[in-house]
Amino acid sequence: MTVKIYIPRDAAAVALGAEKVATAMAEAIAARGLDATIVRNGSRGMHWLEPLVEVETAEGRVAYGPVKARDVAALLDAGLLTGGAHPLCLGKTEDIPFLKRQTRLTFARCGITDPLSLDDYRAHGGLRGLEKAVAMQPAAIVAEVTESGLRGRGGAGFPTGIKWKTVLEAQGERKYIVCNADEGDSGTFADRMIMEGDPFVLIEGMAIAGIATGATKGYVYTRSEYPHAIAVMTAAIGIARAAGVLGSSVLGSAHAFDMEVRTGAGAYVCGEETSLLNSLEGKRGLVRAKPPLPAHKGLFDCPTVINNVISLASVPVILDKGAAYYRDFGMGRSRGTIPIQIAGNVKHGGLFEIGFGLTLGELVDEIGGGTASGRPVKAVQVGGPLGAYFPRALFDTPFDYEAFAAKDGLIGHAGIVVFDDTADMLKQARFAMEFCAVESCGKCTPCRIGSTRGVEVADKIAAGIEPEKNRELLADLCNTMKFGSLCALGGFTPYPVMSAMTHFPEDFEPAPRVEAAE
Ligand SMILES: Cc1cc2nc3c(=O)[nH]c(=O)nc-3n(C[C@H](O)[C@H](O)[C@H](O)COP(=O)(O)O)c2cc1C
Ligand code: SF4
Repeated sequence: MTVKIYIPRDAAAVALGAEKVATAMAEAIAARGLDATIVRNGSRGMHWLEPLVEVETAEGRVAYGPVKARDVAALLDAGLLTGGAHPLCLGKTEDIPFLKRQTRLTFARCGITDPLSLDDYRAHGGLRGLEKAVAMQPAAIVAEVTESGLRGRGGAGFPTGIKWKTVLEAQGERKYIVCNADEGDSGTFADRMIMEGDPFVLIEGMAIAGIATGATKGYVYTRSEYPHAIAVMTAAIGIARAAGVLGSSVLGSAHAFDMEVRTGAGAYVCGEETSLLNSLEGKRGLVRAKPPLPAHKGLFDCPTVINNVISLASVPVILDKGAAYYRDFGMGRSRGTIPIQIAGNVKHGGLFEIGFGLTLGELVDEIGGGTASGRPVKAVQVGGPLGAYFPRALFDTPFDYEAFAAKDGLIGHAGIVVFDDTADMLKQARFAMEFCAVESCGKCTPCRIGSTRGVEVADKIAAGIEPEKNRELLADLCNTMKFGSLCALGGFTPYPVMSAMTHFPEDFEPAPRVEAAE
């Protein structure tokens, strides 16, 4: 029987040499006349082991990694095709502790299937949610999603079912489903991994959203920096359309739904939903004032669902296994699983999906294995560039929307970026202000002007100029931005700044200026 060898096509694996490994493997298979075939799968999400090569054996998949092209000959000599022993052998993939501890609902197929094989997708439980949805009343689908407790994974954590209900009840000749795949947060890659590793789950989720709300057209809005994701998503949409999963009769039903990919030019603010809509309409990515909500007047003034990739990709399993199954995972009002992206200065960076509730300390120390540099962890930024810096003293905070909010933080898109004790938190605070100044859409004053003033004030503190007065000024500025900004770019930039100042006050007391003393 032909042996299957899996080599990821995921951008992270490709960046680490997966193309070269695949080429070397194909050449070696041909030269040796082996009965083996290469499947370009998605990533399992263990970045420190990429490129991770897997081989299908009678006992299950056996993993090897990180593999370089020059390792291929030795691996084949060691009996790779039967899971033979080699220093790079990691044993059975499913037994690798980082994977074993996870609960993969949204990422159930990522790294397992061939991303562009609809047969493979079906064979691993795909399309069951959509099959159920086409036989249900729209309101019943919305009720199921509401019951599941699913909240938006893009940042704000708004209940997905309630958003869908508003669009279902809104009047409009046309309605749209817009998938927010802009994924601008630092240290995040879950959306990209789904689009590259299991694109059909996003297509299925969007088709279900369309049927549930009466929308017939969907757009995936992503960034030009994601060429691999764009290519896989576009190909998958074509395959789904040809197979009747998309089109005028979804799975042979009376429902029509089609979709396409649109690429932005790379502005962080274009991830903000109203700015995204402007960009999608071909306009400048300027934030719109709310109301009207996009659910009432969104894309081209039509009722529009805007959801993050992970929110939409979590819907098929909810429909398939039921709301109760999904909401059984998690804690408090944070139900289901959350794909946490562990990045920065960390030993075991990657994607870790689990029910809400694990503490930040468990994630950083146990799952992440501490810093890659081997130095003590100083701070962890959770939730992207607008998220707070958490010191070790707050490591007992459970991963839960409310628990993070209670500590003046946010979960955001669930990216965590680890810093060791060489990090200068004043520099990080300055960076937050600088980022806001660069990325501001310019519509409102506290953000447009405040962020530039913030950079100047941080520079004065760093230079030892009236530090006490300038620290007060920085806090005052943060307060103005927090309460006076139109959107969360200006409104949440104070989170990294204030958390840095509150938890690491020593970094805001630099030595007096040498020049001043001279
Ligand atoms: C400055 C800014 C950038 C954002 N970037 C993203 C993004 O890249 N991806 C995303 O899904 N949501 C992003 N959001 C949140 C969206 O505005 C919106 O809340 C989200 O798309 C709703 O989907 P959800 O309910 O499924 O989370 C951003 C918000 C702000 C203020
Ligand atoms: S807070 Fe900043 S990004 Fe948001 S609307 Fe105002 S100027 Fe634009």
